[in-house]
Amino acid sequence: MRWAVLVGGRGSNLAALLAAGIDVRLVVSHRAGVGALDVARSAAVPARVLEPAGFADRAAYDRTLAEILASAGVDGVVLAGFLRILGPTVVDAYPGRLLNVHPSLLPAFPGLHAPRQALAAGVRVTGATVHFVDHGMDTGPIIAQAPVPVWPDDTEATLTARIQSVEHRLLPLVVRLVERGEVAWVDGRVHLSPAAAATLSWWWSKSEED
Ligand code: GRF
Repeated sequence: MRWAVLVGGRGSNLAALLAAGIDVRLVVSHRAGVGALDVARSAAVPARVLEPAGFADRAAYDRTLAEILASAGVDGVVLAGFLRILGPTVVDAYPGRLLNVHPSLLPAFPGLHAPRQALAAGVRVTGATVHFVDHGMDTGPIIAQAPVPVWPDDTEATLTARIQSVEHRLLPLVVRLVERGEVAWVDGRVHLSPAAAATLSWWWSKSEED
């Protein structure tokens, strides 16, 4: 499958997808000057900056984004640090092929600054989630999750780094499962094939060794 990755931050998840050999054909950032654009450039992946400021409203932004994705001929889209809610023009164009990675165990701590929210709540375990994107904010059906401990001396920076190192393993793994048709979104529920369930349990046993 050919993928687009929508970004807006450092681009560490983009780098992880590229390192895993995922066929990324296009990167779109909602912000200029971010690290993710440098990651795209060093991998010679075409990159576009699409800042909201130039658009009359959210629908106009989404229409242009949908056109850019369609003309790149991508089959699926990964959101990795793209801090905008997408409307139906984009979401409905990629059913079961639009993924987001979020730095918490959803449905806990949706939205911005999830590691900061976890520290404020005093939880001892948080984690990473990869889910299908629906019309809400971080509400789509969950495909895979991995736990991350919160240590007493954690800062937002140390906790974020620990969560991201898990994201960098979990996200490419899920993208591969979607490519192989091992994960499907049917009638609002996520179905894992036996192979996908085995792959994810392999991941759990690996994470226990870490
Ligand atoms: C990741 O932590 C992801 O979960 C969140 O935004 C962050 C993006 O980081 N949605 P990066 O740009 O991939 O380094």
